[in-house]
Amino acid sequence: MENGQKIKIAMFSTQDNDVLYFNQANPEGKYEIDYFEEQLNPDTASLAAGHDAVCAFTNDIINGEVASRLVSEGVRTVALRCAGYNNVDLDATHGVLPIANVPNYSPYSVAEHAIAMLLTSVRRIHKAYNRTREFNFDLDDLVGFELHGKTIGVIGTGKIGKKFIDICNGFGMNVIAYDKYPDEASSIHYVSLDELFRNSDIISIHCPLTEETEHIINKDSIAIMKPGVIIINTSRGGLIDSDELVEGLINKKIGAACLDVYEDESNVFFHDLSNHIMRDEILARLLSMPNVIITSHQAYLTDEALRNIANTTLNNIEQLLSTGHSENEL
Ligand code: NAI
Repeated sequence: MENGQKIKIAMFSTQDNDVLYFNQANPEGKYEIDYFEEQLNPDTASLAAGHDAVCAFTNDIINGEVASRLVSEGVRTVALRCAGYNNVDLDATHGVLPIANVPNYSPYSVAEHAIAMLLTSVRRIHKAYNRTREFNFDLDDLVGFELHGKTIGVIGTGKIGKKFIDICNGFGMNVIAYDKYPDEASSIHYVSLDELFRNSDIISIHCPLTEETEHIINKDSIAIMKPGVIIINTSRGGLIDSDELVEGLINKKIGAACLDVYEDESNVFFHDLSNHIMRDEILARLLSMPNVIITSHQAYLTDEALRNIANTTLNNIEQLLSTGHSENEL
């Protein structure tokens, strides 16, 4: 900024980790960051008054109304501190204010989390962990199965999907994949979505949430899957029709689900609701099932990723404010 002025940033949906890593990335105090816990939406946009930039996260709402309000409060840019941007209405915000994301902070973080959830599920680690803490050393119902030789279907072979495939190959799995834009230069074995649904023992989703991919896991796709299929979703909740997922689990068509994201996560995830009554009945039902593992959108949450996110987000803001553009502009 001119005359050594500090760049003023309003951060929304702030968690403790954000404060820690953004303060670390700002050792000389070049940026003045106000940390708000509130989610960004039309009602909270006024909190950004007097700031140069807004820093937003996965469940913040960035539509035309929010963008216009931010501009009227003096905000000149929005920097997402995440990769996915399905929460941004690009048509409505285009030309109103520039928006950037962090497209490549660490694909390993999400790929490894997906594998961690899968191993936890198939080797019943979540059940064993609770048992041994109660001095229960019984092995009943803990029989798992081996990943070696199983067919895994990967939907979306971008940065994260490719790292996930590398790990699966290391386990000796038979990897098949579907991508709307297949990487022909890779050695990935692409099949149609229909074939992937029919032949996979395990399905892991790594594509973005778009109009086209919304509810890609639905009643019809579940109907053609192998009985006992395991579904992993570390991408976005809206990729799965949650009602149909519950139905598939109840009628045992689906053997297990590993979910780091959930369709209606925005009012639940990132909050401690342990002293509240869970009002989301679908989520409560999923959590009641022994073969469902849910983490609250934490697949990205590694030290390496958080460092990259903080540094790239601040760079994006600086570039956008000084030149009007950023290499990561959406
Ligand atoms: P990427 O852009 O590198 O890869 C996405 C892939 O999906 C591309 O190969 C693309 O061709 C493919 N794709 C696009 N439309 C498709 C369709 N209709 N059907 C099938 N494939 C399609 O993105 P990256 O970095 O691999 O991230 C993937 C997703 O992971 C993000 O969109 C985001 O939603 C999610 N994510 C989740 C995080 C978490 O903490 N749980 C953290 C970071 C990302």
